[in-house]
Amino acid sequence: MTQPLRHDAQTIARPLWLLAELTYACPLQCPYCSNPTEMAQIGAEMTTDDWFKVLREARELGAAQLGLSGGEPLVRRDLEAIVAEGARLGYYSNLITSGIGMDEARVNALAEAGLDHIQISFQASNAERNNFLAGSNTFEQKKAMARAIKAAGYPMVLNIVLHRHNIDDIDDIIAMAESLDADYVELANTQYYGWAWHNRAQLLPTREQLNHAESVTTRYRDNGGRMKLYFVVPDYYQDRPKACMSGWGDLFLNVAPDGLALPCHAARQLPGIEFPDVREHDIAWIWNESPAFNHFRGFDWMAEPCRSCVEKHDDFGGCRCQAFMLTGDMYATDPVCAKSPSHHLITDVVAEANAPTSARAEAQPIVFRNPKNSKRLHAT
Ligand code: FES
Repeated sequence: MTQPLRHDAQTIARPLWLLAELTYACPLQCPYCSNPTEMAQIGAEMTTDDWFKVLREARELGAAQLGLSGGEPLVRRDLEAIVAEGARLGYYSNLITSGIGMDEARVNALAEAGLDHIQISFQASNAERNNFLAGSNTFEQKKAMARAIKAAGYPMVLNIVLHRHNIDDIDDIIAMAESLDADYVELANTQYYGWAWHNRAQLLPTREQLNHAESVTTRYRDNGGRMKLYFVVPDYYQDRPKACMSGWGDLFLNVAPDGLALPCHAARQLPGIEFPDVREHDIAWIWNESPAFNHFRGFDWMAEPCRSCVEKHDDFGGCRCQAFMLTGDMYATDPVCAKSPSHHLITDVVAEANAPTSARAEAQPIVFRNPKNSKRLHAT
């Protein structure tokens, strides 16, 4: 079957990428986590059978890739069963994990269940910084699990989220990845959603830090380095927005732990959109018919300057969640865009991050991601 034109309101594409956020529970407390800060208030997790229904219906609609994430998906004791069901249905499955809650037996059990791919995250390249950012002594366990994943025959895929507090260690991070025999390394600068939004003043690197990290990465590649490095620049240092999720409701279907179907991981914060529950509706209706998934399809919703912009076919106006967080208007042009009348909301924050001392960063300590802080943030 021919894939319909992308992001055309008349011809809706298929949800090729299903991201199953199995839980918001996590033993780590990373302050850049993109999970919602109100996670402690979010309802009970779905059952194994609920997830089987989601997998089955999404697959019938054409979903091919299954991401298993969280929180920490290893917290779910039924993870192996969900992986096995995904394999039975013909998904290519990818576990996105911190490695905490894993041991060699569990790696082997997941492989036997049919898991195709594992990505393991590190917070930093040394124990002190890793454990500080994770809020627990997990560095050695992570290294052991990275080795166990490789020993089980998986490609070694590392993810390190970069920010002000670890980006200067880029040489050491690459060396650590080499020592773990990594094949692919995602050097993903923090994007500012969820907990990272709350800690933005603490986490945004300076331009000098960013340039240094990018030049070290480029040098590694130019010298014929064995590993494949992916370097993701933070939106805040761009002047054009990303085509978030490849367009709203175009490719990506996120199902949250409480059963909400979302076009992206951050959408539940958008006001006035009722996101459907996968236990009350089937995935075909959610994807094709629901008002939520049709809300930002096509171009009719756009205001200027996006509406008449020749680049709207490339970026679809940028990220709806970022536009809402920065301007309070989810229909606004993403302020990352230099054509946005609100672009100063980005450049002001960047200027502050590059000032000799950042008053905001000093005034507000890092808020770590945990249920206590979630309740505290939302008590007022
Ligand atoms: Fe929601 Fe970009 S994260 S549209």
